[in-house]
Amino acid sequence: MATYIPELAKQNPGLLGVAVCDLQGRRWEAGDWRAPFTLQSISKVATFICALRDNAFDTLPRKISVAPTADGFNSIVNLETKNEQRPLNPMINSGAIAAITMVRGTTIEDKFQRILSMIGDMAGNDTLVVNEAVYRSEKRTGDRNRSLAYFMKSTGIIDGDVEELLDAYFRLCSVAVTCGDVACMGAVLAGDGRSPFSGQRLFDSKIARMVKAVMTTCGMYDASGEFAVDVGMPGKSGVGGGIMAVSPGRLGVAVLGPALDAKGNSLAGWKLLERLSAELDLSIF
Ligand code: DON
Repeated sequence: MATYIPELAKQNPGLLGVAVCDLQGRRWEAGDWRAPFTLQSISKVATFICALRDNAFDTLPRKISVAPTADGFNSIVNLETKNEQRPLNPMINSGAIAAITMVRGTTIEDKFQRILSMIGDMAGNDTLVVNEAVYRSEKRTGDRNRSLAYFMKSTGIIDGDVEELLDAYFRLCSVAVTCGDVACMGAVLAGDGRSPFSGQRLFDSKIARMVKAVMTTCGMYDASGEFAVDVGMPGKSGVGGGIMAVSPGRLGVAVLGPALDAKGNSLAGWKLLERLSAELDLSIF
């Protein structure tokens, strides 16, 4: 498990849960689908959506590109050596931290609340809260993220109070969810931005298309290519052991398995998605 965040090391590695949500909001669940876990990097999808929604459509790619990475999700090397010092994509830590600053709001707290509302609206759950123990653990040990953020401040990608910005980032990573919540979030993307519960359009279909494309190429970090081959769905993992996957026009899928592979993706979750994708013919390729 993600022992670099000590609180995550306390999770039960044997949990295995799955939930599926269709475009009518019907849900199917199995195993430990009720077990709470923290969103971690899955929150980056909501941050990306809000940053796209709150800016002219072509603004974000000028600041954060949408290029896949061959390095880890918290790698610092690319920031200096590639891509004119812009984060490579919004699915890795540097890109997500920068994307928070692009969300509408006078204060960082406003931006945080806006992203949290998007997570809640997508999940069809307005009672989501931050897991305080995980948040404190991230804040205490998040020096790699501090390095990324201070580097980006030095190159003008972000400005303002770095600690305050990281605080919002750590809290977004620490939002507690279940597979049921995350499957519903995936279903909104499967439905091109429309909530299967309220019928409300949460974001434009143009945004949905871009987010699914970036999830496909970058959502599993430097394992995105293998995931495309094995599972074939736009996906986004988090070091809490969750993976959100999207079957466009059909389903949102969420899996939980806290034991991770070396690149930070859920081992059992990946296998489960691979089998589900084969059985239900979910690959987009
Ligand atoms: O910032 C971090 O390192 C974590 N809070 C989130 C990283 C993450 O989930 C990467 N996922 N596989």
